[in-house]
Amino acid sequence: MIELNEDHKLIQQTARDIAEDVIAPNAAYYDSHEEFPQKSFEALRDAGFLAMMVSPEYGGAGLDTISYVLAMIEVSKACASTGVMMSVNNSLAAFPLETYGSEYIKNTFLRKISEGGKLGAFALSEPDAGSDPAGGRTTAVLDGDEYILNGSKMWITNGGVADVYVVFAKTNPDLKHKGMSAFVVEKGTPGFEIGPKEKKLGIRASPTTPLSFDDCRIPKENLIGTEGEGFKIAMSTLDGGRIGIAAQALGIGQAALDAAISYSKTRRAFGQPISKFQGLRWMIADAAMDMEAAKLLTFQAAILKDKKLRFTKEAAMAKLYASEAAVRTADMSLQIHGGAGYSRDFPVERYYRDAKITAIYEGTSEIQRVVISREVIDK
Ligand code: CAA
Repeated sequence: MIELNEDHKLIQQTARDIAEDVIAPNAAYYDSHEEFPQKSFEALRDAGFLAMMVSPEYGGAGLDTISYVLAMIEVSKACASTGVMMSVNNSLAAFPLETYGSEYIKNTFLRKISEGGKLGAFALSEPDAGSDPAGGRTTAVLDGDEYILNGSKMWITNGGVADVYVVFAKTNPDLKHKGMSAFVVEKGTPGFEIGPKEKKLGIRASPTTPLSFDDCRIPKENLIGTEGEGFKIAMSTLDGGRIGIAAQALGIGQAALDAAISYSKTRRAFGQPISKFQGLRWMIADAAMDMEAAKLLTFQAAILKDKKLRFTKEAAMAKLYASEAAVRTADMSLQIHGGAGYSRDFPVERYYRDAKITAIYEGTSEIQRVVISREVIDK
């Protein structure tokens, strides 16, 4: 295990305290009511965890990626819906605004997230373009001092609750990925509509919505970076996002593993706790090893990112391995719980439902394999 410094331990303990005191007690309620986890959001916002890695110059906490991973694990252990809200805000909204945005964008929109208590969202996927975002059809046409946006987006985490949207659109549709640009669009802009919440298997407390743009005019200053730079902004942003999702998966998997261990020690069969049976012991041993391997891959990616080295391959490996390990571990935990695990009386059914999305969003497992194979075979 990597050695944590005193600052890391403090962040981890603070996140653990918030998770235990505020997030965990409300997680089942928010999940079953499919309600935005307002109290969890407020606690994380007040602790500065929603703009953890933003430089203090722009109102953030200026923390490293290791701190972010540690906090994400604790938060997601308690509530995966809260985890993804935090991950999208840090990795997918604040990061591109700070890394590629002009001073105007940083002082206006990044500060809304880091200081103003507003949430951000990342709008890349479209109804016909998920794994292949370069095939997106949303357009942005410059008209005087404004861009006019038309098109629609889908599967947008924080949809509706976010105020600041990082939106990708084609400024030159003939050029495929080279014609894509990134923009900031604020909630409330005329022509920008937020659709109804999706009904989902898991992370039910996290609102996911479509978005539509109908002659939506935004100032030309809302362009992030330069025209044509959008695809690279999206890809490099997702590299960091995948570390966040790996950490979310670690939290869900650890919660499922802890639940399996504690249930197996109290549930008795054939005259003894079921934790005494070798069949179960080996299931738990395998899951513990799986989660540990996932953690090491995730920290490896975070360390590279903090050292400002390339981490595309390592982030893809961490996300792929951690998400699939979380799915396996949640399945194992539910199996150990038997009928009890299938009921809503135990949180393990929520972990089982929540784990699956980590292998789908921010690039499916299949896309991570595409990224890894290109890195190891073609580069
Ligand atoms: N960083 C910087 N640039 C990158 C990059 C990276 N990680 N990956 C690729 N690029 C650049 C390439 O260098 C190339 O540049 P040039 O044009 O200058 O040569 C350009 O981008 C195109 O690269 P590719 O040819 O590799 O692009 P591709 O179309 O074949 O796509 C892909 C590659 C890996 C499949 C990519 O499309 C991908 O990651 N797809 C998955 C998308 C995804 O993760 N969507 C998630 C939606 S967001 C979400 O889920 C958020 C949420 O709400 C939780």
